[in-house]
Amino acid sequence: MKALIKPLALAALLAAAGAQAQTVLKIGYATSQASHYGVGSTVFCEEMEKGTQGRYKCQQFPNSALGGEREQIEAVQLGTQDIVNTSTGPLGNFVPEVKIVDIPFLFRDYDHARKVMDGPIGQDLQKKMEAKGLINLAWTENGFRHMTNSKRAINQATDANGLKMRTMENKVHMDGYKTFGILPTPMPFPELFTALQQGTVDGQENPIPVILSSKFSQVQKHLSLTGHVYSPAALIISPNVWNKLSAADKAVFSEAAKKGAAAQRKKVNDDENNGIAQLEKEGMQVVKQVNGDSFRKAVAPAYAGYAKEFGADKIAAIQAVK
Ligand code: PAF
Repeated sequence: MKALIKPLALAALLAAAGAQAQTVLKIGYATSQASHYGVGSTVFCEEMEKGTQGRYKCQQFPNSALGGEREQIEAVQLGTQDIVNTSTGPLGNFVPEVKIVDIPFLFRDYDHARKVMDGPIGQDLQKKMEAKGLINLAWTENGFRHMTNSKRAINQATDANGLKMRTMENKVHMDGYKTFGILPTPMPFPELFTALQQGTVDGQENPIPVILSSKFSQVQKHLSLTGHVYSPAALIISPNVWNKLSAADKAVFSEAAKKGAAAQRKKVNDDENNGIAQLEKEGMQVVKQVNGDSFRKAVAPAYAGYAKEFGADKIAAIQAVK
C-alpha cells in the first residue's frame, strides 16, 4: 500500500508543479472568433502553446470583450492586457509614424501592401512601436476597406457626397474621406452596429471579413467595392510579458505570430473571394465596378497634407515597392 501511495503522491506533486508553471495570456480583438482576427489569433495561440510545451497558453476575448481597439492598445502598453490583435486605425494615436500606412489609395493591392509591411518599411515601424512600449510580433491584416450605407449605391466619388459615415478614430482617414464629400463621424467599433441600426449614421467602411462577421447586411443595403484604403493590423504583446521571456521562448512567440499572420491573411483572401456572394445572398446590393479614378482624383489634394506630415519621400518610398 505504502509503495503505491508514494508514486501517486509524486505524480500529484509533479502535476501541481506543472499547473503552476502555466501562464495564461489574455488576447483580445474586435470581431468574432470565426473571423479573420479569430483565425489568426487562434493559430498564434496554438503554435505558441505547442512551442512552449504548454507553459504558455491563451485566453481569447473576441467581439471587443476587452473594449475598443484604442482601449486595448492602451491596456497592452500599460500591461493590464497581454496581447491585442488590432488594426492600425487607432495605433497612430500612440505611435504617430504608423499613420502613414493609413493613407487612402497608398497601396495598389494586397501583394504590394504585404510586401511593404513585411519589408524594411514595416520593420522600421515595428521598431518605432517597440520604443513606445508596444511589441509588434507580426503585421497581421484587416484588409482593404469598402463602403456600405443604407441610402444609395455608390458608383463614383460624387455618390458618397453628403453621406454621414462612421469612421475609425483616425485623422488620416478622416482627412481623406472628407475629399469624397463624406461627413466622417469617428466612433469606436463596439458602438457601430447600433448606430447603423438606429440610423445615427448612414454608413460605414470596413473590409469584407468585418462586414461579414459583424452581420452588417442586417442593417445596410448597399455595398460598394471602393477599396479606398488598406487596413493593416498588428499582433502586439505587452513588454510586461515580452521582457520576462527567455530568448528561446521569444523565438517561439515570433514564429507563432508569423504563422498566425499568414492564417489571418489567408482568411482575408478567402472572405474577399467568397464573402461578396454571401453578402448578396443576405440581401445586399453590391456595386462591383466602382469608378476608382473618381476617388483617386478627389483624394489627390489631401496628399499635399500627407506629404507635409510624413514626408513626400517616405510616401514615394512606399509607392515604389514592387
Ligand atoms: O472599423 C474598425 O474599427 C476596424 O476595422 C475593426 C472592425 C475594429 C477591425 O480592426
